[in-house]
Amino acid sequence: MTQTITIALSKGRIYKETMPLLKAAGIEVLDDPETSRKLILDTTNENIKVVIIRATDVPTYVEYGAADLGVIGKDVLMEHGGHGLYEMLDLNIACCKLMTAGFKDTPLPEGQLKVATKFVNCAKDFFSGQGRQIEVIKLYGSMELAPIVGLADCIVDVVDTGNTLRANGLVPQEHIADISSRLVVNKASMKMKHTALQGILDKVSAAVGARK
Ligand code: ATP
Ligand code: PRP
Ligand code: MG
Repeated sequence: MTQTITIALSKGRIYKETMPLLKAAGIEVLDDPETSRKLILDTTNENIKVVIIRATDVPTYVEYGAADLGVIGKDVLMEHGGHGLYEMLDLNIACCKLMTAGFKDTPLPEGQLKVATKFVNCAKDFFSGQGRQIEVIKLYGSMELAPIVGLADCIVDVVDTGNTLRANGLVPQEHIADISSRLVVNKASMKMKHTALQGILDKVSAAVGARK
């Protein structure tokens, strides 16, 4: 019996950087998610579909088995917690760092800190590891604005070149984690569709290894 495989991806850098790795596994997507309004994309393998969803929704789709495979940043994986899925491969793409950031030469206030972030769990874990109580201001983007307008004392966000922080008068402060994207697999799919999934994993793994 032929089994179908669904791969969950988000638009933008993860999609672009995952394409060459899927191609190495013999999977080419037949539509361009940047121009198409379709959310389920066909591939050169009629048994493999790609679904296009928000980055933060990828672990949820994979956890519930709505997708067998997904690609997500380690930041999103840490925030989700990873239940119901296996982290199978570090794809070494979309590399950045999860950091705290704030104003240069301005010490953080004593007592409860106000931290703006979309990474609520990561921020709480990091600061509680330092014995600091925080009030989290949950945002969905443009975190760099929060300290400038007095919404927060500092932020927790991903940093790559540091350009966005610099452009907004902020500096990176404490390192929380090195981030790259991971290939995750639904736990039940790994058992039920083992041969097909292992075939994809082996080829993607070889493609990642060949780039190093
Ligand atoms: P959305 O736009 O839906 O809010 P997002 O901003 O998380 O989602 P992307 O910007 O495509 O979506 O980021 C996807 C992943 O890429 C992040 O989870 C992170 O791991 C990584 N990433 C984010 N920003 C950068 C960056 N500037 N440089 C390198 N990698 C990054
Ligand atoms: C991400 C992130 C930071 C920025 C960091 O934003 O949220 O703002 O990259 O990268 P840098 O250190 O190289 O400036 P992104 O480009 O994904 O835009 P977004 O706000 O649409 O997520
Ligand atoms: Mg982004």
